[in-house]
Amino acid sequence: MTRILLLGGTTEASQLAKTLAETGADAVFSYAGRTANPVSQPLPTRVGGFGGVEGLSEYLKAESITHVVDATHPFAAQMSTNAVHACEATDVKLCAFERPAWQAGEGDTWVHAGTIDEAVSALPDAPARVFLAIGKQNLTQFAAKPQHHYLLRLVDEPDAPLPLPHTTVEIARGPFDAAGDTALMQRHGITHVVAKNAGGAGAAAKLIAARTLGLPVIMIGRPDVPARPIKGSVAEVMAWLSHPPA
Ligand SMILES: NC(=O)c1ccc[n+]([C@@H]2O[C@H](COP(=O)([O-])OP(=O)(O)OC[C@H]3O[C@@H](n4cnc5c(N)ncnc54)[C@H](OP(=O)(O)O)[C@@H]3O)[C@@H](O)[C@H]2O)c1
Repeated sequence: MTRILLLGGTTEASQLAKTLAETGADAVFSYAGRTANPVSQPLPTRVGGFGGVEGLSEYLKAESITHVVDATHPFAAQMSTNAVHACEATDVKLCAFERPAWQAGEGDTWVHAGTIDEAVSALPDAPARVFLAIGKQNLTQFAAKPQHHYLLRLVDEPDAPLPLPHTTVEIARGPFDAAGDTALMQRHGITHVVAKNAGGAGAAAKLIAARTLGLPVIMIGRPDVPARPIKGSVAEVMAWLSHPPA
């Protein structure tokens, strides 16, 4: 019998959960528990870390999971790496459901950064107005450039003081659209955008807005994750679930 663990936290995971529920699949949805009010899912849902590779391996065995679909964010490298190792250890099948990385197109001015620290270095020394569109993690590293004003877009109100002296916080949950993001950046006089190369349509609005306004984007590349089969659509994942490679 197929029993699926869906590692979520993305729009793709929610799309897949909907299809799994509609087809009556035996599946559990897993959230890390980072947001106060996560999107509710039409599947039985658990919240919180598993306790590393060992904890996840125990969970897979205890719950008789046969297939794991890793639909976490491309920057959730720890979870994805743990999933590879735990599935290997327990002989559970694994695939990732991942959106392709964004590519710079005509009219884009992108500066590529391999890491968060490289993105910090890529910001100018003179005070600028930066749309720091990277969520709430990794803000501390930008404290190395306290001269800038940072516009942060977060899902929840911050529950601790921010490590940056000059900030404006916008509370919003994606997907976003280009017109809205263009207006947001104009309203805040943004001069630079910092983004993680997450891929996907909803989060691309800020890139279209930056192109429209002629603003540079410091684009942080994806972290490395051990090799695993990658599926790019709900249909591909569903096909893999019904006919996984032996
Ligand atoms: N990183 C981003 O930029 C970003 C952006 C949007 C959404 N998200 C979502 O936010 C969540 C956390 O991301 P992250 O970057 O903090 O991950 P991470 O650094 O790869 O994971 C850190 C730890 O959080 C737990 N965890 C992560 N995802 C989980 C899940 N879906 N279910 C249960 N436990 C999970 C695991 O704890 P244990 O080791 O204890 O199992 C994992 O080792 C993910 O669901 C991700 O899809 C992340």
